Amino acid sequence: MTRNHIRFLLNGDEVTLTECGARDMLLDFLRVNRRLTGTKEGCAEGDCGACTVLVGRLHEGVLRYDPVNACIRPLAACDGCHTVTVEALHGADGSGSLHPVQRAMVEAHGTQCGFCTPGIVMALYALWLTNPRPSREEVARALQGNLCRCTGYGPILDAAEAAASAGGQEADALMRRRDEVARALAAMRDGRRVEVAREHDRAILPGSVDDLAAALMEHPDATIVAGATDVGLWVTKHLRDIAPALFIAHLPELRRTDVDGDTLIIGAGVTWDEAEQMVAQHLPEALPYWHRVAGWQVRAAGTVGGNIANGSPIGDSPPLLIALGAEVTLRQGDARRTVPLERYFIAYGKQDRQPGEFVESIRIPLPAPGTRIAAEKISKRPDSDITAVAMGLALTIEDGRIATARIAYGGMAGIPRRAPTVEAALTGAPLAEASFEAAAQAVAQDFTPLSDWRASADYRRLVAGNLIRRFWLSQPEAQREAAE
Ligand SMILES: Cc1cc2nc3c(=O)[nH]c(=O)nc-3n(C[C@H](O)[C@H](O)[C@H](O)COP(=O)(O)OP(=O)(O)OC[C@H]3O[C@@H](n4cnc5c(N)ncnc54)[C@H](O)[C@@H]3O)c2cc1C
Ligand code: FES
Ligand code: FES
Repeated sequence: MTRNHIRFLLNGDEVTLTECGARDMLLDFLRVNRRLTGTKEGCAEGDCGACTVLVGRLHEGVLRYDPVNACIRPLAACDGCHTVTVEALHGADGSGSLHPVQRAMVEAHGTQCGFCTPGIVMALYALWLTNPRPSREEVARALQGNLCRCTGYGPILDAAEAAASAGGQEADALMRRRDEVARALAAMRDGRRVEVAREHDRAILPGSVDDLAAALMEHPDATIVAGATDVGLWVTKHLRDIAPALFIAHLPELRRTDVDGDTLIIGAGVTWDEAEQMVAQHLPEALPYWHRVAGWQVRAAGTVGGNIANGSPIGDSPPLLIALGAEVTLRQGDARRTVPLERYFIAYGKQDRQPGEFVESIRIPLPAPGTRIAAEKISKRPDSDITAVAMGLALTIEDGRIATARIAYGGMAGIPRRAPTVEAALTGAPLAEASFEAAAQAVAQDFTPLSDWRASADYRRLVAGNLIRRFWLSQPEAQREAAE
């Protein structure tokens, strides 16, 4: 049985919509339909954070709130979620008084023209709820996805610290309503397929992953939408028709991370943020790299599966995952196949994915003990910026020699791919500076990069080699001296 409406919570209200196209974005609904104009539109492409709202959703019985960009959040994807806008914030004594985060922003002079302020307040509110005692570094990370043209950020960082000191989470209206909201969201889940449309613009939310497989067989050319941090821009910036669109981020089966023996498994609907804990535990060397992906709002919505499936030569997950020997599991109907990730990328714009097929999960072999891992990203801005060159590296060492070497780059070719000559220069070579120097020089034989506005070909070649030199220099000094 198909349901022909979406329903969700918006602040304190339940909303039911029968007319909703795949291209309808939450921000327009809030501002135009509901006149909730506290949520601002700055860029309409996920960059500035002025449109930040909180989205609460149930996963395995736990209600989790994340900050997301309403400008690229499809309204259809709000089905079964709780959207919280800045209008819902108030002090513990009821409406009219300022929330501790808002008061801290006022008192620390964290706002000037005020355009960015609601979005910054919502990002800081999300941090205040989930991490009551953040370090300065964690505050800065929470604000990676928020731009402010006026304050210079110092007062905003001070405001976050003041809000943390003020505390008051237990009296927060959202915290007090958690159980009630969780019950309401659970009641909205009926496991049915949802189909809604605005004229021909059709959105389908399958009822389960099996239903997704069936729906894709019915509509093999449908646009799959996970976190919509790429697809959202096709709509807002390129005005593309994406109908029929098949939404997948709500499917619990795709949202699981798991460890199966010596393999890490990331479901295709797992966001960057949700995968972070697994990275921290099993691949700690890659954690700083993970934090360089976009900003919090995009990491909270965007999926690792979407990052792979989009086939981009500059997606940040493939270089690291290819170096680690990851595989991707694809499903078409009831049939599954698993391909090495490096073979999934065939040529620019061409992936090994058939019509009707979708990415179900990513499988990452746990590195053998002692494996040296590195992940590096070069971009114009340190935060929330797209990569010019990225490198993933995994080396195993035996008796002072490099036994195996897997090195992959993004931004150096039309697809993310390994560097065979670099790998050959390292394999069997002593763990010594000369080996890494030879490998750095071999980069030029593996790639003929393009020049574009992100970087010139010469810069890309130089920096790709320098990332190998950096790896050597980042090894503990005692080990480097012992190796020479
Ligand atoms: C402001 C901003 C900053 C960004 N910064 C970065 C960055 O630093 N590094 C980076 O790598 N990326 C970045 N991105 C790009 C984007 O966030 C990532 O690529 C993200 O991982 C995409 O995931 P998604 O779930 O949002 O994909 P979606 O937008 O939902 O989908 C992306 C593509 O994958 C397809 N797809 C999605 N899931 C599946 C599936 N399971 N099976 C088959 N096809 C599927 C879709 O049809 C679409 O073609 C940024 C984006 C924005 C807006
Ligand atoms: S309006 Fe800029 S991120 Fe949404
Ligand atoms: S206060 Fe003006 S943009 Fe931030």
